[in-house]
Amino acid sequence: MAEHKPRIFSGIQPSGNITIGNYIGAISNWVRLQDEYESIYCIVDLHALTVRNEPAELRRRARSLLALYIACGLDPAKNILFVQSHVPAHAELTWVLNCYTYMGELSRMTQYKEKSARHSENINAGLFDYPVLMASDILLYQTDLVPIGEDQRQHLEITRDIGERFNNVYGDVFKIPEAYIPKVGARIMSLLEPAAKMSKSDENVNNFISILDPPDVIMRKCRRAVTDSEAEVRFDETNKPGVSNLMTIYACMTGKGIPEVEKEFDGKGYGDFKQAVGQSVLDILAPIQDTHARLMADKAYLDQVMAGGAARAEGLARRTLQKVYKKVGLIPRP
Ligand code: TRP
Repeated sequence: MAEHKPRIFSGIQPSGNITIGNYIGAISNWVRLQDEYESIYCIVDLHALTVRNEPAELRRRARSLLALYIACGLDPAKNILFVQSHVPAHAELTWVLNCYTYMGELSRMTQYKEKSARHSENINAGLFDYPVLMASDILLYQTDLVPIGEDQRQHLEITRDIGERFNNVYGDVFKIPEAYIPKVGARIMSLLEPAAKMSKSDENVNNFISILDPPDVIMRKCRRAVTDSEAEVRFDETNKPGVSNLMTIYACMTGKGIPEVEKEFDGKGYGDFKQAVGQSVLDILAPIQDTHARLMADKAYLDQVMAGGAARAEGLARRTLQKVYKKVGLIPRP
């Protein structure tokens, strides 16, 4: 019997290099969820337009991200995998929801404040409006749960606010989504500045490990990661943020618990430890990289997945958009 499974929606921007932070914090959890939930995973290319891109490069990254979703274990038959710009309802709903969103609430968004400080030469309206496009992504699919990191919590809150505001005027149009913070979610920090989250758009490539980094680069980045002046592999995020971060990476890659990791490296130096961390990353990434390379060479297959995903997403999204258009008083197209 096809019982109704709760629906999940999430997305990643095709910007920069997808890192092991994205893998550990997001994609690997999605893979675990694919049987329990009806899942929709988007490549949010419209969001990526809020900064300047080289067009051919953006196209390549979007394709590469789709191949990566699949290579990491997301089955395109079990999940809807699609590219945001292929389903026009996202942009269309954004316009309507813009008219139900206040300048004041958007200007309070932390990410907007940070990004506009960092890109002071290009504070465009899209950057300001970014959360409304994200709200549209989520609300279009009557989503129950949104797996996100801590940094996106505020965007989920505004999504709920906009959805509730709309429902208060027009009745139950949108399902109000909840954040889903996975049980085994770990926040991976930057390798050289472990006070900050590992970011795929970091200017210093030594701060992150990309899922597609070659083996020697991965080993080198692990070797160079910041530790401390002790020589003890002990988990203490306050006093030993660098070592603790490497321990988290190792634990996630091997499936071991932190106490077990502490025991394993008891009496060993940082050199051995870093070597083991690098190797654990390689062991997980090697098969993913192989599959990714094979998929990138198979244009027809990726096209077919993209087309299929967009068609399925479109069917769901249209239904919500039509309801919204009718509620706000637009004439149904005769
Ligand atoms: N803003 C999210 C990020 O930068 C990406 C995103 C866009 C998203 N739309 C989404 C995440 C919808 C979850 C649901 O990480």
